[in-house]
Amino acid sequence: MYNSRISGLGMYVPENIVTNDDLSKMMNTSSDWIIERTGIEQRRHIKKGDGNSTAKMGVKAAKIAIKRAGIATNDIELILFATLSPDYYFPGSGVIVQEELGIPTCPAMDIRTQCSGFVYAMSTADQFVKTGMYKNVLVIGSENQSGGLDMTTRGRGVSVIFGDGAGAAVVSRETDLSKGIMSSHLHSEGEHAKELSIIDPNTSRWIPEIIADNNPDDISFYPYMNGQFVFKNAVTRFSEVINEGLEKNGWESKDIDLLIPHQANLRIAQFIQRKFRLSDDQVYNNIQKYGNTTAASIPIALTEAWEAGKVKEGGKVVLAAFGSGFTWGSVMINW
Ligand SMILES: CC(C)(COP(=O)(O)OP(=O)(O)OC[C@H]1O[C@@H](n2cnc3c(N)ncnc32)[C@H](O)[C@@H]1OP(=O)(O)O)[C@@H](O)C(=O)NCCC(=O)NCCS
Repeated sequence: MYNSRISGLGMYVPENIVTNDDLSKMMNTSSDWIIERTGIEQRRHIKKGDGNSTAKMGVKAAKIAIKRAGIATNDIELILFATLSPDYYFPGSGVIVQEELGIPTCPAMDIRTQCSGFVYAMSTADQFVKTGMYKNVLVIGSENQSGGLDMTTRGRGVSVIFGDGAGAAVVSRETDLSKGIMSSHLHSEGEHAKELSIIDPNTSRWIPEIIADNNPDDISFYPYMNGQFVFKNAVTRFSEVINEGLEKNGWESKDIDLLIPHQANLRIAQFIQRKFRLSDDQVYNNIQKYGNTTAASIPIALTEAWEAGKVKEGGKVVLAAFGSGFTWGSVMINW
């Protein structure tokens, strides 16, 4: 019998900082509006020519995580890559990471559950390690969203929220069953698939058709978000899935040493904090600096929290996410 634990963490964000004031020069928005509604003060955007891509940022984060795990790159037996913005439409970015890390061959798969991608990938890694199939799994969450956003007033309800970056974790075999990932809880509700989505291109309206249409007003390949509906569902599902994890392990909210919520919106995280009566020390948020980096937000926040000494040996750490799909989930860790 084995358990799995996080043995190394890493993160990378592009150097280019985009402030709310920078955005207000491109569209009709204001820093006050963005901060009041989302808590976001700035985000990072890849700059054309800076050498970054979704996979390349993932590799940078992964190298740090592998070093901290104290293993060799070739000890990685499986790569799980969570993203909604892969380098190519296909293949996924996991195989690019395998190539760039110089691992001769290993299984690599992309996980397409958007903001819940890292939680889904951690749960998947956990299963492969617990069954004994693999000893070290590399889990990456990485996003290059900036290039695909509508940076005009038309897209302001979405584009001010999202940012670029990557985070990575090495999930390794643990023989002490009281340590590591204690449980994970995953859900989806496809009824709301279109409420937060990019619909085109798709196989009913494929790329040649979009090119043939040549319609400058076509916004179907920009992200669409029904903001208030997403917000309402997020606070409900976050609460449910954290409670599910607490109940499964016989923990109470006061036992949580650190909650890392997916950095969707600071107002959502604050709502959850109040609901579970958690102190500021029990919750880690950094959306103020990076915006919503979707699948990358939890590993970036977890890495920063770990670097700041907030993740302690024996501590109870809860990861929780909600996003497009809708999908949601939690991972309960005894560090
Ligand atoms: C997106 C979100 C911040 C919008 O806030 P909201 O209070 O719901 O705002 P609304 O969409 O109702 O828009 C209110 C007004 O602000 C305007 N507005 C939208 N974006 C704006 C922006 N960036 N700057 C200025 N005004 C903006 C709207 O056009 C609307 O104007 P109107 O009243 O004249 O029509 C909020 O709905 C939200 O955070 N939702 C959840 C998003 C999320 O977490 N997504 C990720 C999930 S993983």
